[in-house]
Amino acid sequence: MKNNRICELLSIKYPVLQAPMSWITDAGLAASVSNAGGLGIIGPNSGAQSVTTDVTETGERLRSEIKKAKSLTDKPFGVNILSYEGDRFQFSDQCVKVILEEGIAVAAICGDYPEKYAKQLKDAGIKQIFRALPSNNVEVAKRAEQAGMEAFIAAGLEGGGHIGLDRITTFVLIPQVVDAIRIPVIAGGGIVDGRGMVAAIALGAEGIYLGTRFIATKECPAHSTYKQAILDAIDTSSVTFTSMVGLCRALKTPPVEHFVQMELNGTATEEEMVMLHRHETRPWLEGDWSTTVFPVGACAGMIKEIKSASEVVNSIVKEADEIMKNMCIQDFG
Ligand SMILES: Cc1cc2nc3c(=O)[nH]c(=O)nc-3n(C[C@H](O)[C@H](O)[C@H](O)COP(=O)(O)O)c2cc1C
Repeated sequence: MKNNRICELLSIKYPVLQAPMSWITDAGLAASVSNAGGLGIIGPNSGAQSVTTDVTETGERLRSEIKKAKSLTDKPFGVNILSYEGDRFQFSDQCVKVILEEGIAVAAICGDYPEKYAKQLKDAGIKQIFRALPSNNVEVAKRAEQAGMEAFIAAGLEGGGHIGLDRITTFVLIPQVVDAIRIPVIAGGGIVDGRGMVAAIALGAEGIYLGTRFIATKECPAHSTYKQAILDAIDTSSVTFTSMVGLCRALKTPPVEHFVQMELNGTATEEEMVMLHRHETRPWLEGDWSTTVFPVGACAGMIKEIKSASEVVNSIVKEADEIMKNMCIQDFG
């Protein structure tokens, strides 16, 4: 696999990024991906065992994960920062303060406000890649470029967790974004293997951003029940529904199915939505379906094996290289 603009920008060997997934993308997983030549990204509150509403404590938890990641890898890794309009993100302000103090390679910013930390991070030499939420479309990609983001993550409807309200699928979003901006595009949502990587590259993306595939790894701290549900998943095992930040895709667990049914009937209440999105760490770490949602992408049905993070990175790159070589000897003329 040849170096491209994403490899150069992020100083990585392979343009394979492990997407941040809150509690379950900790320093251990991120460092393993970076050691394998991709880019690991630490999620918000990763490494935590409980929710905190304390802003300073949130920053200190992040500091300790950053220090841990640095002890596990000398390669670049990223940290996820949420950046939304409004003043409810004092947690993000604190996390940005910590990453500026600690010094990291990449900020993977997610939200609707790419301008918010752009100057501070640029002045500190931290690379900025941006995934737009609650909408991910051409217009916001142009805004991100204008704001100084160095790569845009085009993430579509197939993805796990919070996804774009426009419901544009990854594979029609990529080429439209590629045609509209000059910064490199990273494809996210629904990609698990070399086939997906080649498809994304064929459409003009220069990197891939994988969440669900990395849950089913040895290093991911998610509970074995969560991982097993991914191995057991079929094409219809995930579903989208309204969330507090737009749309969400998650496993069809009994509470999610119940909520989706009530949404269809027009009887879903905000309290139920809040209950579904409490986002506590324990259910994801302890596998209790009853208390929250378990996000996965529509690609879960393609994952059949728990691998190490380095096996995931290497097998994707190897498969992509083989497919591209075979494509070069095919001729449609
Ligand atoms: C369990 C889970 C938790 C997630 N948490 C976050 C998060 O904390 N921050 C974020 O920016 N994106 C989050 N996402 C979205 C991912 O970063 C990424 O966009 C998505 O997983 C890509 O789709 P895929 O799962 O089909 O690979 C989460 C996704 C999942 C599956």
